[in-house]
Amino acid sequence: MSNKNVKVEIEGKAWEFPVIEGSEKEKAFDIGKLRDQTGYITMDNGFANTSTCKSAITFLDGEKGILQYRGIPIEQLAEKSTFLEVSYLLIYGHLPTQPELDKFTDDIRYHTMLREDMVKLFDGFPRDAHPMAVLGAAVCAMSTFYQDSLDPASPEQVNISITRLMAKLPTIAAYAYKTSIAQPRVYPRNDLDYCANFLNMMFSVPAEPYKCSPEVVEALNLLLILHADHEQNCSTSTVRMIGSSAANLFASVSGGICALWGPLHGGANQAVMEMLQAIHKDGGNVGKYVALAKDKNSDFRLMGFGHRVYKNFDPRATVIKKACDKVLAKMGLNNPLLDIAKQLEAAALKDQYFIDKKLYPNVDFYSGIIYSALNIPVNMFTGMFAIGRLPGWIAHWKEMNESGTTKIGRPRQVYTGPTKTNYTPIRERVGAGKKVA
Ligand code: CMC
Repeated sequence: MSNKNVKVEIEGKAWEFPVIEGSEKEKAFDIGKLRDQTGYITMDNGFANTSTCKSAITFLDGEKGILQYRGIPIEQLAEKSTFLEVSYLLIYGHLPTQPELDKFTDDIRYHTMLREDMVKLFDGFPRDAHPMAVLGAAVCAMSTFYQDSLDPASPEQVNISITRLMAKLPTIAAYAYKTSIAQPRVYPRNDLDYCANFLNMMFSVPAEPYKCSPEVVEALNLLLILHADHEQNCSTSTVRMIGSSAANLFASVSGGICALWGPLHGGANQAVMEMLQAIHKDGGNVGKYVALAKDKNSDFRLMGFGHRVYKNFDPRATVIKKACDKVLAKMGLNNPLLDIAKQLEAAALKDQYFIDKKLYPNVDFYSGIIYSALNIPVNMFTGMFAIGRLPGWIAHWKEMNESGTTKIGRPRQVYTGPTKTNYTPIRERVGAGKKVA
């Protein structure tokens, strides 16, 4: 907190607003009383300059390419931690002791199965349903199956719903996939760790044993860590917005899943892969697509490039790029799409358009290539992102819920429609709102 004020002059009159300073010296001024005092509101398309909360979970500096969860650099977590340990860190605010981590892990392990009546849901969706639609629907449906844990004001109920969500989302995602390819669903195995269990549910069949390599488990663990939180992104803000009405955790997270689905957000990993495949099919002419991305008359964008906040580089992309080379080398794979991705990156990074607009590869540029190496189908990529982002959504919902200062999210607008207009009887209407003369 700071005791400084900022002076703003409106129509010749000076107003003062209190300054709020974050622990990393970010500065904001609180306009909570702006409309009451001045009659003005602010306009901020896409909330590019607006913070709606104080948060102690994740710090990122887009200019310097810094990302830290609870103060710990993402590079250290990527190298040394596991996804469940990172999840604990995000949700409960500190690195767990061994007993804390053991309990967290055991609780999650114990809740991985879905109720058999809930499993029937999967038969109700069309076979070709997008897994993100199934994920969103199934997570919202958890609020029908677990009505004993819907009260945001009860710490016990919140805790059990956190455990259930962390435990069951991988099962839900794997069931969505198995249903889409008409294979039997595979029950979770509690002797496996989080990532190995998920891969087993995705890829094993009753007819023969499945064993995944430690490299694959390690790569999945890394990807989930890198996706685990990203402060007030579109899906997390959605989770907070829904939660601000005191909606339960399942309903709030379900909204986050839907927000993540869009190709400008989590859906970008699927869109990147589809773009690389299209470029490959078209003869691999990378220059043509860079030119298209710059063409004002085309709505083509280089998917996996650009970020609202990172204007230097995305530190997650740096870690992923290295991991990508390592995973493909270890698995003896030679993916032509990786070559196209590298050429595209090199061409864009020296192109003045991309330099001027500060457009760099983001986390999704390389993640799809690793997911492909792990045999994850393209339409499941965004679902993988959802499993990774879940602890972040939970941490933000919990922080907001516990802060005691949260108000329901309710932005204002500047109305630009017709001013007061009298109702026209139907026989006098001529369409497009015009009246008979
Ligand atoms: N290819 C070509 N031009 C681009 C791109 C791109 N990928 N991204 C931005 N631009 C241009 C855009 O046309 C605009 O140009 P102008 O100023 O001439 O109109 C300028 O750069 C600024 O773009 P913007 O859309 O106003 O920027 P934004 O901060 O609102 O959008 C973004 C950020 C990520 C939505 C955007 O860069 C984009 O659409 N990228 C491709 C999709 C993508 O990779 N999304 C994943 C983001 S990382 C995963 C996550 O969500 O966490």
